Amino acid sequence: MEKMPFRDAEGVMDVTAVINAARATTGETNWRRALPVLTGSMVTLRELRLSDAPSLLAMLATEEVARFISPPPTTVEGFERFIAWTHRERAAGNYVCFGVVPHGMDTAIGIFQIRQLEPGFGTAEWGFAMGSSFWGTGAFIDGAKMVVDFAFDVVGTHRLEARAAVANGRGNGALRKVGAIQEGILRKSFLRNGEYLDQTLWTILDEDWRRAKSVWGPRIH
Ligand SMILES: CC(C)(COP(=O)(O)OP(=O)(O)OC[C@H]1O[C@@H](n2cnc3c(N)ncnc32)[C@H](O)[C@@H]1OP(=O)(O)O)[C@@H](O)C(=O)NCCC(=O)NCCS
Repeated sequence: MEKMPFRDAEGVMDVTAVINAARATTGETNWRRALPVLTGSMVTLRELRLSDAPSLLAMLATEEVARFISPPPTTVEGFERFIAWTHRERAAGNYVCFGVVPHGMDTAIGIFQIRQLEPGFGTAEWGFAMGSSFWGTGAFIDGAKMVVDFAFDVVGTHRLEARAAVANGRGNGALRKVGAIQEGILRKSFLRNGEYLDQTLWTILDEDWRRAKSVWGPRIH
């Protein structure tokens, strides 16, 4: 995340099944043209809209959210430019950004991003941020499982990396919880507020994820 630019309670279907169902009905197989809408037990993930800008500003441009990530925009217009940029980068096939919309709401309260670290996304990096009023609610893990499924099943990633500042307790705790493996410490690898911070490198491999999924099974909460 740090390196990334900021420019049914019952019977929730496995995200792969949702994606396959969408393909069957719309013929849409190409995420570069449009992101699918992914529905979890608590949140929906969808493409960002320009109308999400005020909500994202209120949610993400706070000290506690932005403390360990690349500085987010500081104005609605800045977020609108960021959102337009996410659409261009998705269309170019370089990057994916899902907005996180809790059930019962219309606007995004956070984002999940995936960017390619090599052409074709074989190795990719993900990152995430949500408004602090949604921390600890289960929204993160609900969205995270769908994003990781999407990366492995649709985008074609086999190794998904994440970087979290060592001092970012919640960021590291969230990655551990989702099943990522800590591979090492990237010393003084992230410049934030004029200071170089150490980061933890976390990875998930497609084969490990599929093995774990076969244990926790289809996502029925
Ligand atoms: C990262 C983020 C999306 C995670 O969402 P969240 O709702 O806070 O995550 P969760 O509460 O589901 O999981 C965090 C875990 O870390 C644990 N945790 C919290 N503070 C911690 C700390 N100081 N040290 C270790 N673990 C900690 C939590 O207890 C929780 O684990 P648990 O559910 O087993 O108790 C959210 O915290 C956020 O937006 N942070 C700001 C942006 C950011 O730092 N992004 C990450 C960049 S890698």
